[in-house]
Amino acid sequence: MSILPIVRAGHPALSSPSKPVADATDAAIAQLAQDMAETLQAAGGVGLAAPQIAVPLRVVLFYVPEHRVSDIADDGPQPPTLLINPEIEPLDQEMVEGWEGCLSLPGLCGLVPRHARIRYRGLDRAGNRIERVAAGFHARVVQHECDHLDGVLYPARMRSLASLGYAEEYSAARAAAAAAQKEPV
Ligand code: NI
Repeated sequence: MSILPIVRAGHPALSSPSKPVADATDAAIAQLAQDMAETLQAAGGVGLAAPQIAVPLRVVLFYVPEHRVSDIADDGPQPPTLLINPEIEPLDQEMVEGWEGCLSLPGLCGLVPRHARIRYRGLDRAGNRIERVAAGFHARVVQHECDHLDGVLYPARMRSLASLGYAEEYSAARAAAAAAQKEPV
């Protein structure tokens, strides 16, 4: 069990497609799952794909904390979920924009369009099938992580790079906006 370094944009592991896992129950996948869980916890993120630790396999890990859940249908908190060989089926063509960050682009965030509702399928570590319908942040995090398996980082999905910026600067801007509303001049 190890906390592994997370590679950043520019590393070749993040720009090439990853390979399907041949046997989800293989001991090496159990080890990978442990390493991903520890690495994600140490990094303080909510999602991690195997290529982010330079392992070119189709494995993602994510969870949805209560405070990220919206009140739209099919959204809800999700326990830490390891998905092996995931597949995504969009359930409607509506795209919704939302802010995303990525552990491989530390400090940055941007507005990214994603399918509003999806169905996803994959295998768990025991080789059992997982199938869920997702909306809201749940749908967003799964689409973001699965993009990593195809070598796609979120800026490539943005309609415009104008909103790409540093999260700390946006936080400061939002605080200033709130203050400006409270005390107009
Ligand atoms: Ni990411």
